[in-house]
Amino acid sequence: MKNSAYLGIFGPGPNSSAAIVSNNQIIAWAEEERFNRIKTAPNSYPAQAIAFCLAEARKKNLELKAVGYAWDCENYAELATDNLEETISRYPSESDDISRKVQQSLNLLYDPVRVKNDLTLILKKNGVDMEQLDFRYYSHHLCHAASAHYCSGYEDSMVFVNDGVGEVASSTLYYADKEGEFEELAHVDLPHTLGGLYASITEFLGFRAYMDEGKTMGLAAYGKPNPEIESIFDDIAQDIEGEFGYTVNPRYRYSGKRSYGRRFTDLLVEKLGKPRSREQSAMEAPYPDIAYAAQKQLEKLLLSQLQYASGLGRSANATFAGGIHMNCKANGILAETDYFDNYFFQPAASDNGVCLGAAMLSMKDTSGEEPNYPPLDRLYYGPSYSDEEIEKVLKRCKLKYVKSEDISRDVARLISENAIVGWFQGRMEVGARALGGRSILANPLNPDARDHVNKHVKNREAWRPFCPSLQSEAFKDYFDTNLESSRFMITACDIREEYLDILPSCIHIDGTVRSQTVEKEIHPLYWNMLQEFKKITGHPIVVNTSFNVQGEPIVMRPEEAVRCFYGSGMDVLAIGSFLVKKES
Ligand SMILES: [Fe+2]
Repeated sequence: MKNSAYLGIFGPGPNSSAAIVSNNQIIAWAEEERFNRIKTAPNSYPAQAIAFCLAEARKKNLELKAVGYAWDCENYAELATDNLEETISRYPSESDDISRKVQQSLNLLYDPVRVKNDLTLILKKNGVDMEQLDFRYYSHHLCHAASAHYCSGYEDSMVFVNDGVGEVASSTLYYADKEGEFEELAHVDLPHTLGGLYASITEFLGFRAYMDEGKTMGLAAYGKPNPEIESIFDDIAQDIEGEFGYTVNPRYRYSGKRSYGRRFTDLLVEKLGKPRSREQSAMEAPYPDIAYAAQKQLEKLLLSQLQYASGLGRSANATFAGGIHMNCKANGILAETDYFDNYFFQPAASDNGVCLGAAMLSMKDTSGEEPNYPPLDRLYYGPSYSDEEIEKVLKRCKLKYVKSEDISRDVARLISENAIVGWFQGRMEVGARALGGRSILANPLNPDARDHVNKHVKNREAWRPFCPSLQSEAFKDYFDTNLESSRFMITACDIREEYLDILPSCIHIDGTVRSQTVEKEIHPLYWNMLQEFKKITGHPIVVNTSFNVQGEPIVMRPEEAVRCFYGSGMDVLAIGSFLVKKES
């Protein structure tokens, strides 16, 4: 008899994605952007990601039983329209008609009949009859919560979900029990939203909202405490003493005239000054101080959530998901507190994780089985390519290449000689961080590495730091932290002082590092490369950034790796067992 499989879907919407699970195992999980090559695939169903997931399930002889969709389409229009009308009645403004129009288009986008019909057609193209399946809509935050708790390996946990918004909730606190059931304990609805506020400030700072929040976080490290700006943020967002909730004053975001941006009003401009223009550097005052104040306010409000939840005394474990928890600086601060004994941050914290939650919930509700997933220890759930497939591409592109006897050893040597290496190995990772599946690697001991990679490869702002991968065994030697490991670059921690000058290219201005610990059993090839690098340099650590150029999704197929390699200043491509070198 075939084992059953359960498919989870999210999209259209930024981070459109799909995942499939079976028997408490993740079988496949990928974002549509990698297939359609449009960053975050904002306007697409994850049609190609679904096809990939179903093909992986077929290879394992699994039978699709159910589909979960990570948005409560059945209740969305009513909930969201009521919520908007209530906000408008409390904060009337001249932009109300625009808000109503936007809401109408969202209601149509998530209309349950339309979504089910579209998905039926997508599944039909893959030989699946939707009529034969159990199909359910799930609350968006419940899906985030499932992706965090079920991947944590904890028996029970307090689950924190913080994002821009689900259907109407922007923050939700759950208690997840030993049977894998979720009890909602508290929630915050629009117009109050931490993710929405951070997105507004991101846009104000001249970056792309819901895409470049990491830049705001990075810029914050260059800012200083500025009492005047901080007092404005105290007016914008406040915690509510003794409660989980907080308020975000909508007069600064949507309820008012918006002459300068989509996500902030003229009142914000009146208080903080003009938003950053394209011509201005992000380093120009007062922008770093504004980023600093926004980051501080976020951290303060999240800490207040933790304090409230730990006071309930329900669990010693805390789990987190939702786009806000892509903020590794805030995560690092939360994880160093003693409100809880254990902390788990779902690494695909933004909406690329909700499809996994929907698949897991679908398995629980359809099979009646208690979820019992092992702790998430890897994210390599995307496509992989054999040496035979890779070699065909290299030949077709008429490239000169050599087959390496030991790719780990050869790459370690090249990096130690300051080559910038494209590293394309095994299954592609899901999520925003490259973790040694599709990475660009450089020598962290080279003082010019950061500028060199920024200038010649990534084309990013010079002030943005890179992150390192290191052998997990060496984690505590390099970092001063309570964390046991940092597999997913989802928490930042302090580097030990003695390494500040030795590894300059991967340390942020505030001395924090968002590192990836690599385990031998999980990614032996990558671990071996670090071992070889250690033999040469004494340090089992390399600079690791995602294999893409700015504005493009991470590469997935060998063809894209070749294109990105030749379209940038990388020196060497290590793809499968093959090495491709540029003529110097
Ligand atoms: Fe979300």
